[in-house]
Amino acid sequence: MTLSFRPLHPLFAAEVGAVDLATVVAPDTLDEIRAGMHRYGVLVFRAQTLDDHTQLAFAERFDGCLHAKTGAAALGANRFGNEALVDISNVDERGDLLMADDRRRHYGLANRLWHTDASFVEPPGRYSMLSARIVPPVGGDTEFADMRAAWDALAPDMQSRLLPLQAHHSIAYSRQTLGFEFSAEEAERLRGVIQPLVRVNAVTGRRSLYLASHASRIVDWPLPEGRLLLRELMEHATQPAFVYRHQWRAGDLVIWDNLATMHRATPFADGEYRRELRRVTTLDVPRV
Ligand code: OGA
Ligand code: MN
Repeated sequence: MTLSFRPLHPLFAAEVGAVDLATVVAPDTLDEIRAGMHRYGVLVFRAQTLDDHTQLAFAERFDGCLHAKTGAAALGANRFGNEALVDISNVDERGDLLMADDRRRHYGLANRLWHTDASFVEPPGRYSMLSARIVPPVGGDTEFADMRAAWDALAPDMQSRLLPLQAHHSIAYSRQTLGFEFSAEEAERLRGVIQPLVRVNAVTGRRSLYLASHASRIVDWPLPEGRLLLRELMEHATQPAFVYRHQWRAGDLVIWDNLATMHRATPFADGEYRRELRRVTTLDVPRV
């Protein structure tokens, strides 16, 4: 099978033509999609028929090992009884809209900060696959930023300065910047990990900035100096020229490379409309 890739942005992101991810098993086709991920960083598949079971199965077929140590799991079990299937929605276990003061809603609001998925665990997240089941009539788009383009646009002396640096990533930190509070036990489970500030894709050789709102400090730097650098890099990396905005339709599946892009949710009337998506994220380990 030969898939078509239609670029959605001058730098990255493409829409992939005519493939049913629920049933695709042909190794050649899966390899074409993997090559597309290396090239575009974000792939959009329209009109998919995925349910929870086929979405999980596709993620394993496509990229191996699934991430289940989510930040949300440290707060309580999700309504699916499977932490590898992440509930990206504004409803409770009965399907009712979350109340304005619900802790789960507050936690989910932090998706509006620029971030990568699962940079706060080791091994970190590689590919995220987000399936849209119910979308609001307006709003609730997702924005993606190309962190390879962000790296390429840095001056060479800045690049050499950044190359050896490492940052500490913690999901508790990104939530705390919004005033979300954790119990001592939750905070203990969400201590975070050290990540390189710059990554290289082993297939393409392209470097990318590895940033996220989870990045709390630069290792071995004074705290204010590290936070300033992280803020300045964040501003640089999310300038409009590097950003693709995805408008969801029910049935979309979007795959992104967490090691080469960042993303964030955008607002919608979440007290009025349901928005239900499911995410499965793979880990950055060799594929078996
Ligand atoms: C995610 C995420 C953004 C959104 O699923 O990891 O950050 O728009 N989603 O729901
Ligand atoms: Mn996310």
